[in-house]
Amino acid sequence: MTMKTEATTDLKSGKSPKTTADYAKYFQPPSLKDAKKRGKEEVKVHYDFAIPEDMKDIGKGKRYYVRTYGCQMNEHDSETIAGILQQMGYSPAEEAEDADVVLFNTCAIRENAEDKVFGELGNMKRVKNNNPNLILGVCGCMSQEESVVNKILKSFPHVDLIFGTHNIHRLPVLLRDAMFSKEMVIEVWSKEGDIIENMPKIREGNIKGWVNIMYGCDKFCTYCIVPYTRGKERSRRPEDVIAEVRELARQGFKEVTLLGQNVNAYGKDFQDIRFGFGDLLDEIRKIDIPRIRFTTSHPRDFDDRLIEVLAKGGNLVEHIHLPVQSGSSEVLKRMARKYTREHYLELVRKIKAAIPNVVFSTDIIVGFPGETDEQFEETLSLVEEVRYDSAYTFIYSPREGTPAAVMEDNVPMEVKKERLYRLNELMAKISLEQNQKLHNQVVEVLVEGESKNNPNVLAGRTRSNKLVHFVGDKSLIGQFAHVRITDVKTWTLHGEIVTKVEV
Ligand code: 5AD
Ligand code: SF4
Repeated sequence: MTMKTEATTDLKSGKSPKTTADYAKYFQPPSLKDAKKRGKEEVKVHYDFAIPEDMKDIGKGKRYYVRTYGCQMNEHDSETIAGILQQMGYSPAEEAEDADVVLFNTCAIRENAEDKVFGELGNMKRVKNNNPNLILGVCGCMSQEESVVNKILKSFPHVDLIFGTHNIHRLPVLLRDAMFSKEMVIEVWSKEGDIIENMPKIREGNIKGWVNIMYGCDKFCTYCIVPYTRGKERSRRPEDVIAEVRELARQGFKEVTLLGQNVNAYGKDFQDIRFGFGDLLDEIRKIDIPRIRFTTSHPRDFDDRLIEVLAKGGNLVEHIHLPVQSGSSEVLKRMARKYTREHYLELVRKIKAAIPNVVFSTDIIVGFPGETDEQFEETLSLVEEVRYDSAYTFIYSPREGTPAAVMEDNVPMEVKKERLYRLNELMAKISLEQNQKLHNQVVEVLVEGESKNNPNVLAGRTRSNKLVHFVGDKSLIGQFAHVRITDVKTWTLHGEIVTKVEV
């Protein structure tokens, strides 16, 4: 029943509105409650995206700058945004100060991510004062939150444009509105839109590329804002995904990462075919591209078909990011993760049996409301048992509108910090031990570029995604090299080149 809540983009009220309530006559503010609804209607796929004729040259001689926060999904959305802007004639600027259009593609996952955006939006006031013609826009997950839209209206009136995650394809029209309107232009849809297939993308380089396989998330883990900001699960048609990966192979890309909030649920929304993530990977592995990765997996939907396909190896790398979040079944239940510690460990055991050299990484939240010392100890013991090569670890951050935000949180911040510290210490120890196994071994490295700290050193990654530094000729960038590991650190490996390998 929720209709697309489209904003009226130009307010002619005459007085300066202060909150979304003032705007309410004209447009529907984003609503997490509406975003929660999951309709049964079929997702339409559109193949007819085009920049409107009168906007094709609007950016000629002008420059844009996109600042991206958060996950790979956002990074990839920024590539689409860049693609659209370039089709409008804009060219990229090195700095926000040099740009005519600046967009902040934002992340809502934790409070500190949001605070960072607000801080940098504040800094943009000076830039805007120096260049009053600058169009400053905010998009991404934060735009989907009413509280954020309200805060921008109240405290950041130098923002010209707000749009959400579901209407990126509307950017040309919204940008034009923002150029000609005196008011802030806001268009956020609480309900996800259809899939728009043929939007342009500007990828950075031609070594590694991201490919979306699905959008949205229906899992509703109790701490997570993503199902609200990204809408319901919608899978791209297999033929569209396969065509995009083939095209990247043709362009010489060496690695593709398939993206989704919950890739294991791929295809569950198809009404006409039975075609899951395992089936998709089984097709994609036949494409002539040396490395295929995917992120992010949910343990609940990780099925035997997928394990069977991954075990075929080849270009499917033996690295699996498998967020566990907690090692306590009790906490997992309150997080609504829909698996227990035992289920998770059984899944890990099955995967290890099928793919003997598999490497795991994970995400862990400490200090979830009500987490006891014993429950935290269970997380540590699970980490010991799985022996992850790496982990992203977080202190729980309440997100307004999610079920966990109203749970009683009796864990003091000091305790949460101490738990994070202990977990990180343990992870560092295990990472180092895992890396030490590679000492003196020869690994295949996809060379990505120069090391950040030393231009004479090359940096690349193993199939298991470990960072390797070694001295080598710059002509190796974009190629595969065999490197003998001579020095092992917690986060990096150092080595010397053995031979150049053709893949
Ligand atoms: N607080 C802390 N961490 C969170 N994550 C998601 N939501 C929250 C939250 N409210 C973490 C999870 C997820 C990763 C992307 O971010 O671990 O897997
Ligand atoms: Fe958030 Fe859970 Fe969906 Fe991951 S699976 S995006 S943690 S709701």
